[in-house]
Amino acid sequence: MEVSHRIIISDIDNTLLGDTKALGEFINYLKKNRDSIKFGIATGRHLESAIAVLEQWQVPTPDFFITAVGSQIHNATKEADENWLKHIDYCWKPDEIRDYLSQFKGLSLQPDINQGEFKISYFADQNFEKLELPYAANVIYSHGEFLDILPVRASKGLAVSYLAKSLSLPMTQVMVAGDSGNDAEMLTNDGLGIVVGNYSNELENLKNKKGIYFAQNNYAAGILEGIKHFDW
Ligand code: GLC
Ligand code: MG
Repeated sequence: MEVSHRIIISDIDNTLLGDTKALGEFINYLKKNRDSIKFGIATGRHLESAIAVLEQWQVPTPDFFITAVGSQIHNATKEADENWLKHIDYCWKPDEIRDYLSQFKGLSLQPDINQGEFKISYFADQNFEKLELPYAANVIYSHGEFLDILPVRASKGLAVSYLAKSLSLPMTQVMVAGDSGNDAEMLTNDGLGIVVGNYSNELENLKNKKGIYFAQNNYAAGILEGIKHFDW
């Protein structure tokens, strides 16, 4: 029988990481299915920070890194996907956006290390879920405290779709897992979505959406529960 190729892409903080024992079981599942299932992460962290925390939790190197909320894609050997960068560099006006947002009282820029060529990040001390910009851009509010502005062609969800396409995988073979607002887009892609039990409020409105499973269990145990649910 032909091996069907699939990919699981998980958010890192509060999804993959949080429960050591369950993480170990999830890693075993990946090892057992290494020939048929690829593994990716999709995170708000930048690459170095993602690598560091995965090492700290002894997670094997993923096949793909989607970092900085989807504004960067790297492979297992940490080569940047230059085509992705070219693709998202469209209608991107970072200086104008920073200027415009400087008038909002509840926003303060995150440290420089969290800013990227294609990611402007703020701490938000009010709800900015409904913020609309007079520029083409993706506005992503998460954990009730972070606000990321990305090019209109960049997000975790758009990066996941791009990756699936470049691997010639139909979205039905793509499973994603997440816990918070910056995961919403990838969860509502055409693929299968798992929301872990410890999810934050911004994902409440995804309940009852087709193809999205809300797990009872938290962190990696929630991912494993979703895998069982979808019978992978
Ligand atoms: C990570 C990033 C931060 C971003 C947040 C939400 O914490 O370091 O810059 O705002 O994720 O996406
Ligand atoms: Mg998270």
